[in-house]
Amino acid sequence: MKQIAIFASGAGSNALEIIRHFKGHKTINVSLVLCNKPGAGVIDLAEYAGIPVIMIEKEQFFRGHAYVVELQQARIDLIVLAGFLWKIPKALTDAFKGRILNIHPALLPKYGGKGMYGKHVHEAVIASGDQSSGITIHLVDDVYDNGQIIFQTKVDISEGDTPETLASKVHILEHRYFPSVIEEFIENKNPC
Ligand code: GRF
Repeated sequence: MKQIAIFASGAGSNALEIIRHFKGHKTINVSLVLCNKPGAGVIDLAEYAGIPVIMIEKEQFFRGHAYVVELQQARIDLIVLAGFLWKIPKALTDAFKGRILNIHPALLPKYGGKGMYGKHVHEAVIASGDQSSGITIHLVDDVYDNGQIIFQTKVDISEGDTPETLASKVHILEHRYFPSVIEEFIENKNPC
């Protein structure tokens, strides 16, 4: 059984889709959720799904062992960042090289990097006058939004689109594609 740990900081709508997708799956299991934001919606979602939640403490994460011990004890094969707003420390990218996936709500390498999250991304895309946006699923290394791109798909930007309406269009893509891209990544014998 391949074990997945989801890292999230927010509402957890992506985490929910991933949990739903793998519920009852023969060979893949979401066994852990890690969260750095007390009160985040993802905590309730995980508890409702009966998935243990580890609350991430800043000191431990950035100056300690970055929860590598807990992840190895849980025999985690793949880490999935589903709206996790902190940069992943080297201790973790080293321990899980090639085994951390992130989803970014734009077409990297454009509109990525520190501070480019949530509405900031969609505001920048709308302001740019680009005709389309989309999602990027990529491997995580030591640089923000920089690792090998695993999957991208686009959505047209319409005349009247605002950052809010674009965010909704992008969220639909995330929910539709992230779970199956994760499944393909694991089943294509990547280093998980
Ligand atoms: C998503 O838009 C994702 O692209 C970004 O963070 C957001 C998480 O949303 N990385 P949710 O918490 O999964 O609803």
